[in-house]
Amino acid sequence: MSFSERVADYRKRVERALEARLPAEGTRPAALHAAMRYSVLGGGKRVRPLLCYAAGELLGVAAGRLDDAACAVECVHAFSLVHDDLPAMDNDALRRGKPSTHKAFGVATAILAGDALQTRAFEILAGDGVRDAAERLGMVAILAAASGSLGMTGGQAVDLESEGKQLTAADLEALDRDKTGKLIRAAVLMPCCTVPGLPQATRDALDRFAENTGLAFQIKDDVLDVEGDQALTGKTQGADAVRGKATYPSLMGLEHAKQRADALYADALAALEPFGDAAESLRWMARSIVHRDR
Ligand code: IPE
Ligand code: IPE
Ligand code: MG
Ligand code: MG
Ligand code: MG
Repeated sequence: MSFSERVADYRKRVERALEARLPAEGTRPAALHAAMRYSVLGGGKRVRPLLCYAAGELLGVAAGRLDDAACAVECVHAFSLVHDDLPAMDNDALRRGKPSTHKAFGVATAILAGDALQTRAFEILAGDGVRDAAERLGMVAILAAASGSLGMTGGQAVDLESEGKQLTAADLEALDRDKTGKLIRAAVLMPCCTVPGLPQATRDALDRFAENTGLAFQIKDDVLDVEGDQALTGKTQGADAVRGKATYPSLMGLEHAKQRADALYADALAALEPFGDAAESLRWMARSIVHRDR
């Protein structure tokens, strides 16, 4: 059975695992918990959890040991999207085809839902604080670094500072490696914590795979912003262009942006060569990221 056949099961697995790890509907404060659930459940491609399970397959780690890591990275991702859409940031009214969290629940509740999703992520990762303590601490360190001022949050800060400015290609790549690449790297690297004595070369190869895949992911997101708007509205400008966002298509044109994503995809695959067939699941994930249409 190939990874493409297992993906549907992994998706169901992560939906169930997320549902079980969020406070139940109706838990007080009800609006806050409803906003958290709304932001996480029922939508989303689950790319980061799937990368976690795919890396687990390569490392021979059972999915059950990765559910907490998969859910934690998805909670941080969901938090980042809730805040990304806020009026003070990208000011987006829609997310996943539905009203964004602040449109559905108000700005203040959306800010708090983001805050609480971030802390819930680390609570999930910490577990009971006793079992698998070393493994869990390693994952906490990876996810915290990826989320903070030298990771996603820092990248978001530079993204906003860069609106209306012409960046160099190197500066744009650095910003995207932080804002999007770092969480994708965390998804791939957290499973390494479950393998004591993992060879450094294996971790380095996974890191190279994740770095390239993460940057390709954001370039594709930028490309879809342009192409999606063209398809839906007939307009040639996507929402990013309207806001003056620094993106690959705006800097180097759509065709060059696609070529850059393809080159990064090729390097991601090259990083997996030493693993042979064991890397099939990660290859499938990289392909689905670069070839996705949403
Ligand atoms: C969108 O991420 C934001 C970026 C980091 C580019 P996804 O495309 O993974 O969003 P969902 O979770 O599938 O909606
Ligand atoms: C979002 O990038 C990156 C993070 C949330 C960290 P974008 O602003 O391009 O994501 P979309 O296009 O709104 O999903
Ligand atoms: Mg943004
Ligand atoms: Mg945005
Ligand atoms: Mg975007």
